[in-house]
Amino acid sequence: MIVFPQGFLWGAATSAHQVEGENRNNDWWKWERSANLKETSGSACRHYQLFKEDFDLARSLNHNCHRFSIEWSRIFPSSGAISREELTHYRNVIQALKERGLEPIVSLHHFTNPLWFSKLGGWENPGSQGHYLNYVRRVVEEFADLVKYWVTINEPMVYVYYSYVIGAWPPQEKSFLKARRVTANLISAHTQAYKLIQVIYRNKGLPKPEVGIAKNMQAFVPCKNNFRNRLAVYLRDKSFNFDFLNKLAKSKTMDFIGVNYYTRSLVETSSWSLNNVLTRICQDNHSSLLKNSLGWDIYPEGLVDLLLRLKIYDLPVIILENGICTMDDALRWNFINQHLKSIGIALAKGVRISGYIYWSLLDNFEWDKGFGPRFGLIGVDYSDFRRTVRESARIFSLVCKTGILEQ
Ligand code: FCB
Repeated sequence: MIVFPQGFLWGAATSAHQVEGENRNNDWWKWERSANLKETSGSACRHYQLFKEDFDLARSLNHNCHRFSIEWSRIFPSSGAISREELTHYRNVIQALKERGLEPIVSLHHFTNPLWFSKLGGWENPGSQGHYLNYVRRVVEEFADLVKYWVTINEPMVYVYYSYVIGAWPPQEKSFLKARRVTANLISAHTQAYKLIQVIYRNKGLPKPEVGIAKNMQAFVPCKNNFRNRLAVYLRDKSFNFDFLNKLAKSKTMDFIGVNYYTRSLVETSSWSLNNVLTRICQDNHSSLLKNSLGWDIYPEGLVDLLLRLKIYDLPVIILENGICTMDDALRWNFINQHLKSIGIALAKGVRISGYIYWSLLDNFEWDKGFGPRFGLIGVDYSDFRRTVRESARIFSLVCKTGILEQ
């Protein structure tokens, strides 16, 4: 039996572009069309209209928090113009959460950028931080009275990797040089946003907020156990998992570490080229592990290892995303159960973990993979937007209610 700490945060996450629908004014909307994606985000889950019903369901599942993101391109449809109407919308969203006893955990950036911002060069532009901070200032000024938890940037290294290293997401660049520049701008944007948010709360006489990032962490495992693969594991673990965190720890700009954990990467290099050493994975199906419907290995032991390694930072850790896409709902509960056990092991070894947030509350638009992958505790029928609570969600709701996992 695992008894989770008092006041543990239990909930699920979404992000604006993946659930709201009709986010027409960002780089993804445009790119979905120009890249000819099989499925475009379109109305997504119509969560923009249905958020109250969705939060009713979250409450009925005993969640006590909810993570979501504010869509920058709604607040700032152009660089100079702020939309009062959208500010009111998100105030209603936050209030709806609070009325239901759900602590809001608000992400300020979750992969999408306003179209005007991407036209100015996006995160490659040295001015990017100024634009982002302007948005952060307005939003935080507006909602400071209601929000305690802020996430400045979701998965910066995933963004850099997909958008600037392998070129799979907009703006589809493949350049280590640009990747470095964007990473530096994101670090600086976070650091300044952290300080800004603290100042806003202080000036308003509000209690200190909790500000962090959502850091995707992967277990890197060598396929063949040779020197080059071991070196590749070392380099990827350092550059993907830890460099960003180290920078933020050094500037003391995290009140908690948000961890997003899904899978491991089976590292198999075939040459000494930088690209090969930093990106190649096993192509020969050497992994015998169970997988999600996108083929990602299920590897809960990797989470234990990573959590233990976070101890050096001596900060609270919140699992901000962990989840599985599958049509096999029994496997979904199995996945949650195994990862909660991993968290239990890390807690027993002294890691200060203060929350578990499942990805995702709803089935949603999984970026370039479209609507096929089903990550939701709640299923969505995209023909009529009907929601169906899955059995795994009900089992998980008992853990949320009691704070106890019976083994
Ligand atoms: C994470 C993203 C989230 C979702 C899950 C499956 O990397 O933060 O938006 O796509 O993966």
